Amino acid sequence: MRIVSVIGARPQFIKAAPVCRALRAGNEEILVHSGQHFDHGMSQVFFEELGIPAPDYNLGVAGGRHGAMTGQMLALIEELLVELAPDAVLVYGDTNTTLAGGLAAAKLHIPVAHVEAGLRSFNRQMPEEINRVLTDHLSTWLFCPTDAAVANLAAEGIAAGVHQVGDVMLDTAREFAERVDPAEVAARFGLESGAYYLATVHRAATADDPVALAGVTRTFASLDLPVLWPVHPRTRKALEASGLAAEFADAPGLTLVEPVSYLESNGLLRGAAALLTDSGGMQKEAYFFGIPCVTLREETEWVETVEAGWNRLVGVDPKRIADAVAGVRTSAPPAERPAFYGDGHAAGEIARVLAGG
Ligand code: UD1
Repeated sequence: MRIVSVIGARPQFIKAAPVCRALRAGNEEILVHSGQHFDHGMSQVFFEELGIPAPDYNLGVAGGRHGAMTGQMLALIEELLVELAPDAVLVYGDTNTTLAGGLAAAKLHIPVAHVEAGLRSFNRQMPEEINRVLTDHLSTWLFCPTDAAVANLAAEGIAAGVHQVGDVMLDTAREFAERVDPAEVAARFGLESGAYYLATVHRAATADDPVALAGVTRTFASLDLPVLWPVHPRTRKALEASGLAAEFADAPGLTLVEPVSYLESNGLLRGAAALLTDSGGMQKEAYFFGIPCVTLREETEWVETVEAGWNRLVGVDPKRIADAVAGVRTSAPPAERPAFYGDGHAAGEIARVLAGG
């Protein structure tokens, strides 16, 4: 098969690493980078560390309003697909890049494969929710990471083409964990393994709300252990605009650093006493490694992590965040960590299904 894979945002690089390799074993893959993430630390470093093949095309579309960004990608991807005439287009997750790739293909009657299908937050205020619902409804192959995702699709009347293959992020996490020593990575940031929290914040609902962002930042700085916060570019802009970056530049309990690489993130997470995040993917990565997670949102797509007791949903209220962190510190972690996400061989399953096997 000739498969065009469309990627563009940081989490997609992490997912694509094992899938590219599996696809290229028996297919021709053409890799298209939308350009959505473009900083070296948000894009190139992941290609280097994870051994992802260089993109065949980079469309250079980034920033701007969501409609404009998605629309520009749509027009450029359509042009490319007409030229390349692939047998399938593969997209990942829930970003504007995902929707643009899926929609361009579907309008040209090219079958779409969606990796990480079926996830729902049931919050239509999130741009990601719109992207994932629409992409699922356009797709021919829906590769679900969990049983909950399969059930979500069934509730929307989608059963054909649905495959529960496990989570490709587990493939990446397992493979690369062997190359990282958490204590060594923590030391690089002046931290001691087990004696810090790792934090990430990038959702529009938090980063773009000055009150929420101030509350979260102050809470991080007041916890019982130091907090290391690799700051996403969108959040960096907001922290600078609000004066919070300057206010907390030398705070003893809070360190703001540039975005970290995959291997650094993997090590920092495994050495953390807990993860404080509004990321989707990192909630899962914390679960893979048995690290308690405090999620700064009111809902999650990864409901099984909450049900299993490893993830606490607290929104952006300072007291709820502080109480949840205290809860992590004073209670023993759950005894069980069921294999909700499969066994780390999702990429091979995807390639097998696409090959008709
Ligand atoms: C996007 C995805 C989100 C995903 C996240 C991972 C959508 C709607 N959202 O959000 O689902 O969880 O990626 O990080 O697609 N910027 C830079 N340099 C970069 C990347 C971004 O300066 O390398 C700036 C952009 O120009 C923009 C802001 O950061 O001003 C936000 O970037 P954008 O791609 O719009 O969304 P994310 O917040 O990254």
